[in-house]
Amino acid sequence: MTVPPGAGPDAVAPDDRLLMDTFMSQYRLPAVAAADRLGLFPALAGTPADAGQLARAHGLDHHGTSVLLEFLAAQGYLAVHGGRYHLTPSAHAFLLPGGARYWGPMLGLGWDERCAAVRHVVTTGTPAGYRGKGIWETHERSPRHGEQFARAMHAHSAAPAAVLADRLDLAGCASLLEVAGGVGTFAMALARRNPHLKATVMDLPVVEREGERLLAEAGLADRVVLRTGDMFTDPWPDAQDRVLLADVLSDWDDAHCRTLLERARTSLAAGGRLLVHQVLPDDAARLSPAVTGYSLALAVMTGGRLRTLPELTGLLTEAGFADCTATPVYGHYALVTARPA
Ligand SMILES: C[S@@+](CC[C@H](N)C(=O)[O-])C[C@H]1O[C@@H](n2cnc3c(N)ncnc32)[C@H](O)[C@@H]1O
Repeated sequence: MTVPPGAGPDAVAPDDRLLMDTFMSQYRLPAVAAADRLGLFPALAGTPADAGQLARAHGLDHHGTSVLLEFLAAQGYLAVHGGRYHLTPSAHAFLLPGGARYWGPMLGLGWDERCAAVRHVVTTGTPAGYRGKGIWETHERSPRHGEQFARAMHAHSAAPAAVLADRLDLAGCASLLEVAGGVGTFAMALARRNPHLKATVMDLPVVEREGERLLAEAGLADRVVLRTGDMFTDPWPDAQDRVLLADVLSDWDDAHCRTLLERARTSLAAGGRLLVHQVLPDDAARLSPAVTGYSLALAVMTGGRLRTLPELTGLLTEAGFADCTATPVYGHYALVTARPA
């Protein structure tokens, strides 16, 4: 077998930003096509506006409009000056109906369900999920979808989980609860790296079969326990040294996040810490089509959102946490830690 240059055991593994970029690119055309159908380009050509002003003037949802505009700006169709969105020269040339070079009919050729889903979230502020059906309810009703999603989460979390396990110091921690942990990708990586650690993974029943298979394959079934249930209504184990929420808060609105954070606080042992691992958008990320596309994908699929560190810190403080600290970990991901105040 020929090993490609740079792929030997000592090669530094690339992070997953290229894959994130490719995956989120599925929302590029839908964002432009939905903005075109909603008349946002001529509206902004006439009156540059911020997301709130544009949403109010056109009866749109503020958050949906905001994530759409950020993604269009990261793609190069809009530019922000003084907090207002303006058309770039490309948008002026090709996205104004009536113009000689207007691309609207061409965008119409690409109109599909995903375009309609983006338009739906921008007009109503509610997620489109799977053809209008809630994502988590669909997974429970249709195990085929649920298991496919669980495998997808495992694939996308394997690398960030391994890097987090390398970087996170869990010396002195005996227990970790991973909430909405899917098949337990993070818990398994952390348990593999920390032989003294016992972990509980909570998630919906649909992940059970694949989770148990992976745990047995990893030889970790004695230290990582999968506990199925609803994280909003079923009890969480208490006296945990760490509670981990990896890519969880970004699936939910603020009210659901408050519930999860309050439950996390009461599950922690004295001296315990909350760990929140997710993409944390900063000013640079506003320029990234992968991160802004991810924000739009969350709004469309789950009704959740990516939160900046100040937004996350606000929620954590309200839920009774203090000492919120963020550390970049891998690709676009960061780890935020906090302790009960
Ligand atoms: C984006 S995935 C993240 C999975 C995992 N933490 C990771 O990063 O790979 C969100 C997870 O939340 C789970 N979930 C959604 N609603 C839930 C609920 N009410 N109770 C428990 N888990 C839930 C889903 O089944 C899914 O596994």
